[in-house]
Amino acid sequence: MKESVGQPLSRIDGRLKVAGRATYSAENFPKNLTQAVLVMSTIPKGRIASMDTRAAEKVPGVLTVMTPRNAPKLPVSQKKPGPIDRILSVFQDDKVYYANQPIGVVVAETLEAATYAASLVRVKYVTEAYEVSLTKRIPTAYDPKKVGGGGDPSASNRGDVKAGMDSAAAKIAHVYSTPYETHNPMEPHATVAVWEGKEKLTLYDTTQGVFLTRQRVAEIMGLHPDNVHVISPYLGGGFGCKSVWSQVIIAVMAARQLDRPVKLVMDRPQMFGSLGYRPQTHQEVAAGAAADGTLLALRHDTITHTSSFDVFVEPASLTARMLYNSANNSTSHRLVRTDTGTPTFMRAPGECPGTYALECAMDELAYALKMDPVALRLKNYAEEDPDKDRPFSSKSLRECYKLGADRFGWEKRTPEPRSMRKGNQMIGWGMATSLYPTHRSASSAVARLRADGTALVEAATQDLGTGTYTIMTQMTADALGLSTAQVVFRLGDTAFPETPISGGSQTAASTGSAVHLAGLALREKLTQMAVSDSSSPLYQASVQDIVIEEGRLMLKDNRQRGETYQAMMQRQGKKEVEAHADTKPGEEQKKYSMYAFGAQFAEVHVDADLGQIRVSRMVGAFAAGKILNPKTARSQFIGGMVWGISMALHEETKLDERLGRIVNNNLAEYHVPVNLDVPAIEALWVDEKDEHVNPIGVKGIGEIGNTGAAAAIANAIFHATGKRIRDLPITLDKLLS
Ligand code: MOS
Repeated sequence: MKESVGQPLSRIDGRLKVAGRATYSAENFPKNLTQAVLVMSTIPKGRIASMDTRAAEKVPGVLTVMTPRNAPKLPVSQKKPGPIDRILSVFQDDKVYYANQPIGVVVAETLEAATYAASLVRVKYVTEAYEVSLTKRIPTAYDPKKVGGGGDPSASNRGDVKAGMDSAAAKIAHVYSTPYETHNPMEPHATVAVWEGKEKLTLYDTTQGVFLTRQRVAEIMGLHPDNVHVISPYLGGGFGCKSVWSQVIIAVMAARQLDRPVKLVMDRPQMFGSLGYRPQTHQEVAAGAAADGTLLALRHDTITHTSSFDVFVEPASLTARMLYNSANNSTSHRLVRTDTGTPTFMRAPGECPGTYALECAMDELAYALKMDPVALRLKNYAEEDPDKDRPFSSKSLRECYKLGADRFGWEKRTPEPRSMRKGNQMIGWGMATSLYPTHRSASSAVARLRADGTALVEAATQDLGTGTYTIMTQMTADALGLSTAQVVFRLGDTAFPETPISGGSQTAASTGSAVHLAGLALREKLTQMAVSDSSSPLYQASVQDIVIEEGRLMLKDNRQRGETYQAMMQRQGKKEVEAHADTKPGEEQKKYSMYAFGAQFAEVHVDADLGQIRVSRMVGAFAAGKILNPKTARSQFIGGMVWGISMALHEETKLDERLGRIVNNNLAEYHVPVNLDVPAIEALWVDEKDEHVNPIGVKGIGEIGNTGAAAAIANAIFHATGKRIRDLPITLDKLLS
């Protein structure tokens, strides 16, 4: 029987989703359900002087209007969040820290009544001076242990960068900037809060971490975590923004006050600024090299912004510490406080904007050296992690450069800018390196064989739409010798064994390892049951001699001799056999540096008269350990690359600096690529066996496609036009000016 892992199995949940039968958070309708609509602040900083809610309260069907004036005081301070939590805006004082901050909620019998009533709430503010621009305040240091997104030291230094620069034959130093970007998952944030009395709570919530949500809600509401049940079986994307934000707590508070279930779904404009975002980055990269391309100095200094009341850092300089052998190397991160909501993790936080700046700088250095960009990277290839002074658990970046370059036809490139042309189209080819660290957290899973010979496996984890159900089913099928049709995998529920958040590309590595080990433990148990049962045809057989296919155990060399799980279960009168696995990262974390790597190649066409830019093709070649399912993996890589097109050419949250408000808070004006913007994209990968990284040898693929992609496109635009735009997105006005 062919192993299922490695097969391009279609999403197990695909049919349900296409048929509209996958129940998303907002599609839960408990009895007596009420509808909540938020009221958001319209100023970026100040105090609420008054809120006139009388008209809203008179709307037929309105049940309550909750504001800072009448909201219940929460038993536990929400001011000491952990690194992945944010300080929330849950009506505990009258302060406004950012525009589009929740400042009130209307709950009504219908969504229409709540929406209309929310529009009638009149707010008077005392405004204070504010600043939303990254570049107008002085950046400062921060304590990396106390910030979200941090953890790594904020600065690093090895060798002597100044001396290295002084001795360089070629050098560059430039500032690269990326804009404020907003996650826009198709499914908006949604919470349905159902209380049973005042102590027990069930939440249908769209979250990347059911256990994280349970913990945080319990802390803030002063509940025992066991009394909070979080359910989240399907998500329509997350990208880092689906954690516990203010509206979750607001729905919970309103439901407790009314003693009725409350549904709160964010609308698109409300999602801009109040649920995290990728902060603007201002990155200075300086690099110097000897005439043969050897890097003699590399410096990468990043400034990003956080809110006035909470701290999150986008660690964009981390990549420059370890991607290249550069004996003289320094990096830093500093923060600016702005009167905005707090930023958060957004797909490849740090590495995404960081690889944009670093890999554009490397391209500029290649031109300064008159050297091929791939050759420059190979010249400075790091065989070991130069930052941590450790070997990589595996690294196949060299193979990625080769695979990508061959597929793209890189050797046909003429290096001179503006040298490739077709009619009125200037053609440019650019490349960049991708990478993302391999994370892993403690995770558990339970596997059960049922009397009918099918398996039921549970772990609390989430499926962001990426294929978690599918890969877990495949791994279980292989571990137990079943077909995928004989396996049911369930997730998204705190009633199941505890797992980490689905973030940091760690779900396969963490929960996949647990599911794999639970499956193996169950197989061991079942095989032992057979060989120790005197009525079994396999009695006293040696366990190593047994193979299992389609749920039938048999001798490897005599396949006639055997029996099915089902037959054995029935004979032994067993309803269910169960095995549990708990697994966590170990010593390997200290011995090795663990990363997935890749190389991206892009072709652009730029209209010589109009400056209109089209990405015409892209090739990404990745090495990310074992690929569990080529179909869902390819989709993840390509999704990341599409987001790279978006970052390079389209995406930008526009803040009006005079009003401190976001002006394009909708999908008409917040530009993302549409089909016409997305050309033929190829995602390829190198077979990579990594025996150190985790029990299943996977590295995580959710984020890497989003790294390096924007740099490859920006470099291609320079190659096409001879014009270097160092401020994303690269729009035609920048190209023409
Ligand atoms: Mo991701 S930014 O780790 O959800």
